[in-house]
Amino acid sequence: MTLEGKYALVTGASKGIGRATALALAREGAHVLVHYGRSAKEAEAVISEIRSKGGQAEAIQADLSTPDGASLLASRAKMVIGDRLDILVANAGISKAARIAGYTVDDFDSLYTTNVRGTFFLVQHLLPVMGAGSNIVVISSIVARSVVGVPGLENPSILAYASTKGALETLVKNWAAILGPQGIRVNAVAPGVIETDMSNFTKTEAGREVALGMQALKRLGKPEDVADVVAFIASEGARWITGASIPVDGGSKL
Ligand SMILES: NC(=O)c1ccc[n+]([C@@H]2O[C@H](COP(=O)([O-])OP(=O)(O)OC[C@H]3O[C@@H](n4cnc5c(N)ncnc54)[C@H](OP(=O)(O)O)[C@@H]3O)[C@@H](O)[C@H]2O)c1
Repeated sequence: MTLEGKYALVTGASKGIGRATALALAREGAHVLVHYGRSAKEAEAVISEIRSKGGQAEAIQADLSTPDGASLLASRAKMVIGDRLDILVANAGISKAARIAGYTVDDFDSLYTTNVRGTFFLVQHLLPVMGAGSNIVVISSIVARSVVGVPGLENPSILAYASTKGALETLVKNWAAILGPQGIRVNAVAPGVIETDMSNFTKTEAGREVALGMQALKRLGKPEDVADVVAFIASEGARWITGASIPVDGGSKL
């Protein structure tokens, strides 16, 4: 086990990629704080699964879309961890697909408040308990750098969501540069299509075909495919990697 004795906080760990990441970090020995927004039962199930395997975990609730969500989460986390956080996985996020004409100001604001503002201020509030050897992994997406789907004015697109991931990757580089001298690493992991509630289009045959059509590897990605990479990036094995965005996408859009 590579993360023995480390404290890790995973945001949005009640489901999907966050859940798989919490389980992977716990498997590697980390004491995991399982953050959730609305899915309390699912978060409790993650805690039970970790504890049943002999691991340590606690659930923490906070709505990251509210102005004080990030500071609440940070203070609740500090009550458990004290003054040292080793690993922060900023995973919580929402998505939206629409034609350009179909987006509302509320859609745009909720994408940015949850995905970007929540992450920005969570890092701000947790930095005082991070130090040399700590690291941050931000879950980005292939869409930060590539246009996916079929472009067209009449077709739904996730362009506003994609721009939040572009913003996060810009923050990752800036955080890595600013925090490097303190010995804190900051990286992005950029999944392609992963089978979760968020990517429910993969449940249709047409959706599966779109996903598989852009990938070199011909199966749908699973949350565990991403979680194992996050666990590595968070470990000492990745000690010389910072400011990077690691694609985990089965060779998408090559
Ligand atoms: N699935 C994909 O194909 C894919 C591809 C690339 C990147 N990603 C990224 O991977 C991350 C996880 O996505 P996923 O596919 O695992 O999605 P998911 O299954 O829908 O899970 C999203 C998680 O984020 C949490 N969350 C959302 N809004 C929140 C809020 N306001 N406050 C607190 N928690 C909130 C949810 O918590 P509650 O349910 O408890 O509220 C849930 O645990 C996201 O950043 C997403 O953009 C996903």
